[in-house]
Amino acid sequence: MSAGTHLFSRAALLGLIGAAALASTSALAQETVKIGLIVPMTGGQASTGKQIDNAIKLYMQQNGDTVAGKKIEVILKDDAALPDNTKRLSQELIVNDKVNIIAGFGVTPAALAAAPLATQAKVPEIVMAAGTSIITEKSPYIVRTSFTLPQSSTVIGDWAVKNGIQKVAVLVSDYAPGADALASFKEHFEGGGGKIVEEVKVPLANPDFAPFLQRMKDAKPDAMFVFVPAGQGGNFMKQYVERGLDKSGIKVIGPGDVMDDDLLNNMGDAAIGAVTAHIYSAAHPSQKNKDFVAAYEKAYGTRPGFMAVGGYDGIHLVYEALKKTGGKADGDSLIAAMKGMAWESPRGPISIDPETRDIVQNVYIRKVEKKDGQLYNIEFATFGPIKDPGKLKK
Ligand code: PHB
Repeated sequence: MSAGTHLFSRAALLGLIGAAALASTSALAQETVKIGLIVPMTGGQASTGKQIDNAIKLYMQQNGDTVAGKKIEVILKDDAALPDNTKRLSQELIVNDKVNIIAGFGVTPAALAAAPLATQAKVPEIVMAAGTSIITEKSPYIVRTSFTLPQSSTVIGDWAVKNGIQKVAVLVSDYAPGADALASFKEHFEGGGGKIVEEVKVPLANPDFAPFLQRMKDAKPDAMFVFVPAGQGGNFMKQYVERGLDKSGIKVIGPGDVMDDDLLNNMGDAAIGAVTAHIYSAAHPSQKNKDFVAAYEKAYGTRPGFMAVGGYDGIHLVYEALKKTGGKADGDSLIAAMKGMAWESPRGPISIDPETRDIVQNVYIRKVEKKDGQLYNIEFATFGPIKDPGKLKK
């Protein structure tokens, strides 16, 4: 065989492979909508990933895995909540797997790491967990189905001053959502005449709460405002009891992350009386939620928390957007369809703000109570619908 013939046949072969690959990608592109789900399944934030993965699987069992003629394929990746992993996995999913959507994002740094890639590739990024206000401003392809910290922290700030709490010590996780929680609580609590007597920031990874709790006991504030991300509330309450805070009369208030339903029932009676403001309680008294909780418990043997609801609503948003576009799955069509969408979630009525692509929802004030031998966040006041107050200020 001459060199020339060899080259020609090789080129022809490559051409054939290329054509075949193209044909199969376009056939796939027509029939399958791929979602790259990037969540922490290991490490300190693993409960977030597990809740979201569970909820998405449950939704797809209930609603089928085909919508608008498209088969929905979810590709699950564990980023252990480390943003470098999130970035690499997003890139791989977009470039190699050719996903139509990236979703999940258990923590703010992960959601932010993926934002430039979503913009570049025009791939929707559905944020199902992270809660820092600024996230949705980082790409026109980001839509959020979780919550923002200012939504809950402003409400608990107002509630605290109106309910005789004058002196508060603050403990927040030392990263962006903690800063958002503190700033928005402070504005409302001090704006109403309350006084913050102490502010402590604890590391995100493996925090030790003990030194702070000892100081709290000595300083005797009326209450302590606590923001720790989902997954850490159990450990916080364990140390709260070990340091004797449960006997000191210093109650826990804050956004509801610390009282995540996923962990609440194992926290013990020390949690009883904690008042938090949040977007979801497993005890939310709607039929939609009763059905959701029953199905989730039946499937997984545990109670869903607020992260599960972010995942359940996130996949619902994808399904409804595809129905609206008639199965068109390019980023611009999907984002246009998602803007302004409104529906009833297990948490209550929610919608996607067409301007900011952020979630608009009620915030409920709840108190931990024992019901039929189990601990629940019992909702007793509703505020909303609330747009992210973090953005309204700008
Ligand atoms: C976040 O990193 O944005 C985050 C994670 C868990 C929460 C709240 C916020 O519960």
